[in-house]
Amino acid sequence: MSRRILAALGSAVLVLGLAACSGEGAGSGNDGDKPGDLTIGVSMPTQTSERWIADGNFVKEKLEAKGYKVDLQYAGDDIPTQSQQVDQMITRGADVLIIAAIAGTALSGQLQAAADAKIPVISYDRLIRDSPNVDFYVSFDNYKVGVAQATALLVGLGLQTKDGAKGEATGPFNIELFAGSLDDNNTQYFFGGAMDTLKPFIDAGTLKVKSGQNKIDQVAILRWQQEGAQKRMEDLLTSSYNDGSKVDGVLSPYDGLSRGIITALQNAGYRDDMPVVTGQDAEIASVKLINDGVQGSTIFKDTRLLAEQAAIAAESFLQDKTPQANDTETYDNGVKVVPSYLLPIQTVFSDDIKPVLIDSGYFTAEEVAAGQAKD
Ligand code: GAL
Repeated sequence: MSRRILAALGSAVLVLGLAACSGEGAGSGNDGDKPGDLTIGVSMPTQTSERWIADGNFVKEKLEAKGYKVDLQYAGDDIPTQSQQVDQMITRGADVLIIAAIAGTALSGQLQAAADAKIPVISYDRLIRDSPNVDFYVSFDNYKVGVAQATALLVGLGLQTKDGAKGEATGPFNIELFAGSLDDNNTQYFFGGAMDTLKPFIDAGTLKVKSGQNKIDQVAILRWQQEGAQKRMEDLLTSSYNDGSKVDGVLSPYDGLSRGIITALQNAGYRDDMPVVTGQDAEIASVKLINDGVQGSTIFKDTRLLAEQAAIAAESFLQDKTPQANDTETYDNGVKVVPSYLLPIQTVFSDDIKPVLIDSGYFTAEEVAAGQAKD
């Protein structure tokens, strides 16, 4: 049994009882614990999206390879379920928590309980906000993701070349904008990076947001849901493109949303004139769409590396060391700047699929052709 459970239970009677069974006392450190005695609680938001399934699997694999036990739970995108699962991880004696939160501010009670039990908390990809009890953050440079998405839109429209030079197209082009879930801290970084990049083109009239909807709260999609994006795209087509005009480009911050947007466009008859649609996460179904020339691009964030960093940080905490950060300035969660390890990103157009995704072993050529990962 993990010794941290003693601190977590908080009842003197229970503590005494358990201490008698295990011979360990509350508040003792990790010295002497073998990896096999230690458990890492891993809380993931949802299994409806491929990326979080891959994240969960990779984190589990990396930690188990180091000999640790893993308590992996998915919360079905339901905030009370995630709170309950994290509570249970604490009472079951987790020694470290790795959490990809559904909503950035919803877990403060759990985080306080973790802090009281001296359980370090690693925020995974999405920063947990408004709590002092977040010890480390592993993610990507989320502002740069937004810049890369907007740049991919400009390249797809021919306004810019891949090496950053001015493209041959002149426009004007009709575009529409989408953002992720407003309660995910990443959403504002993605949208901020994208809008800073698109603004000069919008100001110059080269890009026109025909619906006029350009504020984050007008374009955000709750819980990043594909159906929500499809519905909004359908509404946009009805309200703003019923005069024979065409959509030329769509800024989409996530492949799941992109697929909803593409479905709406296909249902409305778009085929060879499919707008340039961006994405994120290199989900296999979208990689196939990129390969088939339907979706324009995605942003590849290597979840194997993210999982590896989370495992390295967890191990540092378990060895009473401070995990190595490579950014100690950017991610202020409203209470403190959380030391972070940020990984690089890569834009993937169709000709990048082979060198970036297949040659690195992320997907096989067969998986790309099928649009489905093997496991
Ligand atoms: C974000 C994450 C994106 C995407 C999105 C929807 O927090 O950074 O990569 O996965 O959630 O799941």
